[in-house]
Amino acid sequence: RAMLFLLLPLLAALFQGGFEESISYHLMQTSSFYNHSWVHVGSGWLGELQTHRWNSSSNAIIYLYPWSRGNFSNKELMYVERLFQLYFNEHQDYYISQLMFKGEFPFIVTAGCELHSGKGFLGFKQVALQGQDFMSFQNETFLPSPEGGEKAQEACKLLNFNEAYTQRLHRLLSDTCPRFTLGLLDAGKAHLQRRVKPETWLSSGPSPGPGHLLLVCHVSGFYPKHVWVMWMRGELQEQEGTQRGDILPNADGTWYLQATLDVAAEEAAGLACRVKHSSLGGQDLLLHWGGKSGTQAGDGGISSSRV
Ligand SMILES: *[C@@H]1O[C@H](CO)[C@@H](O)[C@H](O)[C@H]1NC(C)=O
Ligand SMILES: *[C@@H]1O[C@H](CO)[C@@H](O)[C@H](O)[C@H]1NC(C)=O
Ligand SMILES: *[C@@H]1O[C@H](CO)[C@@H](O)[C@H](O)[C@H]1NC(C)=O
Ligand SMILES: *[C@@H]1O[C@H](CO)[C@@H](O)[C@H](O)[C@H]1NC(C)=O
Repeated sequence: RAMLFLLLPLLAALFQGGFEESISYHLMQTSSFYNHSWVHVGSGWLGELQTHRWNSSSNAIIYLYPWSRGNFSNKELMYVERLFQLYFNEHQDYYISQLMFKGEFPFIVTAGCELHSGKGFLGFKQVALQGQDFMSFQNETFLPSPEGGEKAQEACKLLNFNEAYTQRLHRLLSDTCPRFTLGLLDAGKAHLQRRVKPETWLSSGPSPGPGHLLLVCHVSGFYPKHVWVMWMRGELQEQEGTQRGDILPNADGTWYLQATLDVAAEEAAGLACRVKHSSLGGQDLLLHWGGKSGTQAGDGGISSSRV
């Protein structure tokens, strides 16, 4: 645990705003049945950042960043890789063929650990049934979910029967996973702590009604994820009608957000979109809604300026 406290300031900086949600590492497997056989896709995630992938043709871990090995030795990484090979190639087909998914529904397995609580987690969902829980794993035991019905009970009985397997899984989740995650956070510090400034621009969306405009403020390519965007009148008056979209991932690991405001056309003048982000060094961006296009401050059109 000592290492966790040393890393807390770093973690707090990284996960600004969302820090209470804590830091987790998880593996995700999605399996679907296609042309008479199962296709398994595996990936590894540090919070919302993908750090690993499973190469199913070579049966090997793909490290997406130079620091994706954390502080594990090659020996330890090869041991983990070997476990996944067994899991994907032998266990998987065995358990699936035994009983679980004769219905051939796609399913998702998520397994990992959460640093704050020190807890491991594993969940099994069936995609076809509105993502219903099927079973979970707690303290060396698979537990059927009520929604999983008889099938889940049978599956758990089968899995729990193999004690060597459940003990190994428990160790992986409660020991290997948190150790690996701490090493990963430390090794990836420079990448995780980086700050990337957003690009911002304004546009108008589809008209919400006669005489109305939909003002759209685009904020793109920023990192970390935490951002504040608001439509303002002048510099001070926040517009309560601002609608924030979801923060969406860009392919390069940065984020995108848009904030819209529905206004009567004659009230649009004097409105501005204000953006606060940790990459801006305390200087908010302010984009003024104008009539003309253009992005230079002071040309009387849509302009952006620092506050
Ligand atoms: C389906 O699998 C069979 C053999 O397993 C293969 O011959 C065929 O080309 C595959 N079809 C498609 C569409 O992938
Ligand atoms: C996955 O493995 C195959 C076969 O060894 C290899 O050709 C391919 O380059 C690998 N893919 C990645 C992304 O490493
Ligand atoms: C976890 O399971 C082990 C063995 O089954 C048991 O000894 C231990 O008390 C359990 N711990 C908790 C917190 O339930
Ligand atoms: C990696 O770092 C973690 C956290 O500092 C530590 O607990 C662990 O012993 C280190 N080494 C390995 C091989 O896990």
